[in-house]
Amino acid sequence: MERLHFGVDYYPEHWERERWDTDAKLMQKMGIQMVRMAEFSWHKLQPAEDVFDFAWLDEAIELLGKYGIYTIVGTPTAAPPAWMIHKHPDILPIDRKGRVRGFGGRHHDCQSNPVYREYIRKLVTQMAKHYGENPYVIGWQPDNELGNSHQDLCTCDYCRRRFQAWLQKKYQTADELNRAWGTAFWSQEYNDFAEVPAPRLTVTGENPSAMLDWKRFCSDLIVDFTEEQTKIIRTYAKNQFITHNYMGFANKVDYYKLGELLDFVSHDQYPGGFYLPETPHEKNHVLAATLDVVRSYKNQPFWIMEQQSGITGWETMGRAPRPGQLSAWAMQSIAHGADAVVFFRWRTCALGTEQYWHGILPHSGNPGRRYEELQDFIHEMKPLMDNLQNSMIKSETGIVFSFEQEYAFQIQPHHRDLSYTGQVQKYYRALYEQNIPVDFVPAEGDFQKYRLLIAPLQYLMSPELEDKYMEYVRQGGHLVLTMRTGVKDTNNLCMTELELPGRLSQLAGVEVLDYDCLRDDEVAVLFEGESLQAHIWSDLMRLLPGTETIARYGSQFYAGEPCITEHPYGEGVCYYVGTEPGDALMDKFMARICKESGVCPIMPPVAEVECTIRENDRERFLFVINHAGEAKDYQVPQGWKLLKGRQAGSLGAYETQILSRQQ
Ligand code: GLA
Ligand code: ZN
Repeated sequence: MERLHFGVDYYPEHWERERWDTDAKLMQKMGIQMVRMAEFSWHKLQPAEDVFDFAWLDEAIELLGKYGIYTIVGTPTAAPPAWMIHKHPDILPIDRKGRVRGFGGRHHDCQSNPVYREYIRKLVTQMAKHYGENPYVIGWQPDNELGNSHQDLCTCDYCRRRFQAWLQKKYQTADELNRAWGTAFWSQEYNDFAEVPAPRLTVTGENPSAMLDWKRFCSDLIVDFTEEQTKIIRTYAKNQFITHNYMGFANKVDYYKLGELLDFVSHDQYPGGFYLPETPHEKNHVLAATLDVVRSYKNQPFWIMEQQSGITGWETMGRAPRPGQLSAWAMQSIAHGADAVVFFRWRTCALGTEQYWHGILPHSGNPGRRYEELQDFIHEMKPLMDNLQNSMIKSETGIVFSFEQEYAFQIQPHHRDLSYTGQVQKYYRALYEQNIPVDFVPAEGDFQKYRLLIAPLQYLMSPELEDKYMEYVRQGGHLVLTMRTGVKDTNNLCMTELELPGRLSQLAGVEVLDYDCLRDDEVAVLFEGESLQAHIWSDLMRLLPGTETIARYGSQFYAGEPCITEHPYGEGVCYYVGTEPGDALMDKFMARICKESGVCPIMPPVAEVECTIRENDRERFLFVINHAGEAKDYQVPQGWKLLKGRQAGSLGAYETQILSRQQ
């Protein structure tokens, strides 16, 4: 079978049967090799309790197959049908305010509900038996964007009991739970696990330890929910893959753990932003970080299951992608490690919530500007994709990214503008703008392969993680630790035995004796003879012998005291950053430590031009992407030959060039 690299998300059930042939022909002409279908069509597949009807999907799969287009089947469990909800209303989720969320959107379900689970087992078994050996079906996507729409769900009795069982397994006794959660505060002791609630909205405040376990539980519930489906699919579909469409940095499920169930990770990439009126157009470095984190979840190439193909929008809309911009965005996905790109969606929908989330074709179904552009893109890229397949980005720099820290900061953000993911992306931006490739690494990951490791906000700390950081530096690594490190144990209780950052003081060479949450204020920082800005927070520290001050505070009552430090340890160096550096300070500090740790940029930076290198044993591929609506020049590095593009070094608006060289 030919290798598959380009596809679309297709909803034949939204259109008359007579149209399907035209769709298939148009898809084939533009180079589409696969579709994803059925991920919301539960009612069409099971119109009533005992009635299954796969005929329409069989027909669509077969018809597309005749045109050489393969199918990824979605299980439609994100959209339980009305007959089911009518018969079993307790499938509907209950939010933290105790309100039942109604039928009429999607994901109107409680993932603990045993009746819903039973329906899923039946349906998915039928589907897996039916399609498990269909030669046109290549793979599966269980549910859709798991964790999406699960903001504060569900707190029903099933979830409560399941949470209690989860806690009992973890803590064994109520005494142990009380200790771990610090329930002596405000008389929250439990005599029995049966007394523990699923956290509903309280009158004032919440127990941060209880909330952390609740978030872990909710993540585990999603993994368990998915595993039930993947087990069934693997039983009957032995030669088909299983993937899932992630949402970048979304935080409702630990994507590293979910990834263990999958053959590879997929992701939905919408650079134009989402449908909410307040979400801005995403910045290029955030888009790049999103793709890098997706690659990092399984540390392997990934697929895009939904790549923007037009204006995004539900009730309100985003900007029209400029000519060339859809291709530039798709190219960015490939440049960061996508082996396949599936565009969302084929034709702009005339029905329902997503009438303004535009597809490749407009409402009219007539091919236009977007069809032409993506057709050219696919035809040009297809011959290159086979060579690119399985090639990876090799980074000398890692940023530690962990869902545990994300959960802890959701519960106690400290400051209105502080978020863990946001902080991680601030460090990423400085590296991105200097053309330094980055991997994200879980706390359990391999640190040793990086020259430079950045570990922002290591707030929850365990003895194992402390040891790991120390070992990393001892063996020669360059490590950045920041404010709010080592504050809590893994139960989210404050550590009290040592000054901050606890045992890591030995490594960082500092003791934090006091701090200042800056609220709306900022602080000046003196760095290499300049006065620059920092925000959010100031750590006030005492240096241990051997620690050097890199930057000092230049304002506030602690003007003159150390702000950023450097401490040699073993063969390596640990930097400690006691604040959130503003962009200028961040850029200069990062440039300095990249140099000190021997990390090299791919090439000199040009504003709005992005570059990455994917490589395999034989060959390296350099992508240079112009995100600007005007021409840009860059300095072509020595020894590379042009694979795609007109004139190496001169980029037209939104143009990408690909260069290659042998290893
Ligand atoms: C998500 C979903 C799709 C669709 C698009 C557009 O990424 O996976 O089903 O809803 O957003 O809103
Ligand atoms: Zn529930």
